[in-house]
Amino acid sequence: MNPVDALFQPVRVGGLALPNRVAMSPMTRSFSGDAGVPGPDVVLYYAARAAAGTGLIFTEGTVVDMGPARGYLGVPGLCNDAQEAAWRQVTDAVHAAGGRIMVQLWHCGRLSHPRATGGAQPLAPSALTAAGVYVDAADPGTFDGHLAYVEPKAMDAADIASVTAAFAAAAGRAKRAGFDGVLFHGASGYLLHEFFNADSNQRSDDYNGDAFARARFAAGIVAAARHEVGAGYPLLMGLSQFAVNDFAWQTWREPTDLAATLATLRTAGIDGYHVAAYRIGVPAFAPDADPAQRSLAWHVRALSGLPVSAAGGVTYSTGVGESLMGVESQLTDPAEAAQALQDGDADLIAVGRAMLANPDWTAKVRAGDWRTLTPFRREMLGELV
Ligand SMILES: Cc1cc2nc3c(=O)[nH]c(=O)nc-3n(C[C@H](O)[C@H](O)[C@H](O)COP(=O)(O)O)c2cc1C
Repeated sequence: MNPVDALFQPVRVGGLALPNRVAMSPMTRSFSGDAGVPGPDVVLYYAARAAAGTGLIFTEGTVVDMGPARGYLGVPGLCNDAQEAAWRQVTDAVHAAGGRIMVQLWHCGRLSHPRATGGAQPLAPSALTAAGVYVDAADPGTFDGHLAYVEPKAMDAADIASVTAAFAAAAGRAKRAGFDGVLFHGASGYLLHEFFNADSNQRSDDYNGDAFARARFAAGIVAAARHEVGAGYPLLMGLSQFAVNDFAWQTWREPTDLAATLATLRTAGIDGYHVAAYRIGVPAFAPDADPAQRSLAWHVRALSGLPVSAAGGVTYSTGVGESLMGVESQLTDPAEAAQALQDGDADLIAVGRAMLANPDWTAKVRAGDWRTLTPFRREMLGELV
C-alpha cells in the first residue's frame, strides 16, 4: 500500500460526498480590494487547487459585514450583491475544474483594527483589549508590531442580534452563490472564539457562566444560518485552542468543557468541524486533564461523532507564527498526514502554507512526488498564483 493512500479515500461531510480527504485550509489572501470583491485572479487561484484534485477547498476568511467584522485590508466579504456575484465566478470555476468549495465566514471581533473597519470600534463579548500586537499578514508594514489592538465595545443585545443576522444572511448568500457549504470561523481568537474563551468572555448574562453558556452565541448563529439555508446544507464550525495574538491561549482546560461546547453546537445544527493547531498531533490538554495526550482534533472527533478536518504542519516543519516572521522551513513527508487519519485525529487533512505555495500539492502528493514541492516563503503572500 502507498503510504499516502489513506488521504485518497472518499468521505462524506454533512451530506456532501468528497472523493478524497485532502482539504485546502482557509488562508487569508487580501487580494479583494477596498470593496472586498474577489476578482479573476482569485477565481484562477482556487480553480488551480481544484484542478489538482483537492477534495474540498475552504476559502480565505470572508467577512459578514464591511465594518467591525473586517479586521484586515483587502479581505473579501459576502454581504452585498457585488460580492455574491463575484463569488459565483469562483464557485463556477471550481466546480468546472471538478472541485468543491465552502466559504469561511468571519467576524474579527476584538482582533479587528479601525484601519480596516472604516474607523468603527471593534466588537467583543467584553471590553477587554487583546494582548499582543496587531499584524496584517498581507501588509509587511505591520510586521514590526508597532500597531496595538484597541479596546473593543462589549456587545449589547442589539449587537448580538445584528451580528447573528449578518452571519445568517451571509450563509444564505453562500448557498445562492453556489458554495457547497459554510465554515464559521470559530477559531484563532476571532469573535466566536472570544465568546468560547473565559479570558475574553467575562459577561454576566446568559452568554457566560459555563462552557454551555459560552457556546450560546455561536450556537445562535448556527441556528439562524440553518433556518436561512434549510436542512441538508453543510454547516461546519472552526475551532482552535490558540489565538493568532497569543499562540499559548487555552480555551478548554478539560475534555468535559469541550464536550459542552460541542453538544451545544450539535443541538443548533452543526454538521462537522475544522480544527486548527500548531501541528495536528499536539496534545490539546495538560497531562493531568488528558493522560493520553491526544490532539484537539482527536477529542472533537471522538466527543462529537461528526466529521473533522484538521490543519497544522502538513508537509511543513515550522509553525505559522514563526514562518510569518520569516523563519525558513523544511518540507516533510505527507505520510505523517495519512498516519493522522489512521490514528483517528481527523477525517480530512487540511493543508495550509504548502498548498498556498503549490497549487498542484494534491496531484504531486498523490503521485509520490512530494520532494519536488516548493517550500512556502513569506514573500509568497505578495502574489496570487
Ligand atoms: C497566510 C495565512 C493566512 C491564514 N488565514 C486563515 C484564515 O483566514 N482562516 C483560518 O481559519 N485560518 C487561517 N490560517 C491558518 C491556516 O488555515 C492553517 O490552519 C495553518 O496555516 C496551519 O496549517 P499549515 O501548517 O498547513 O500551514 C492562515 C494561515 C496562513 C499561513
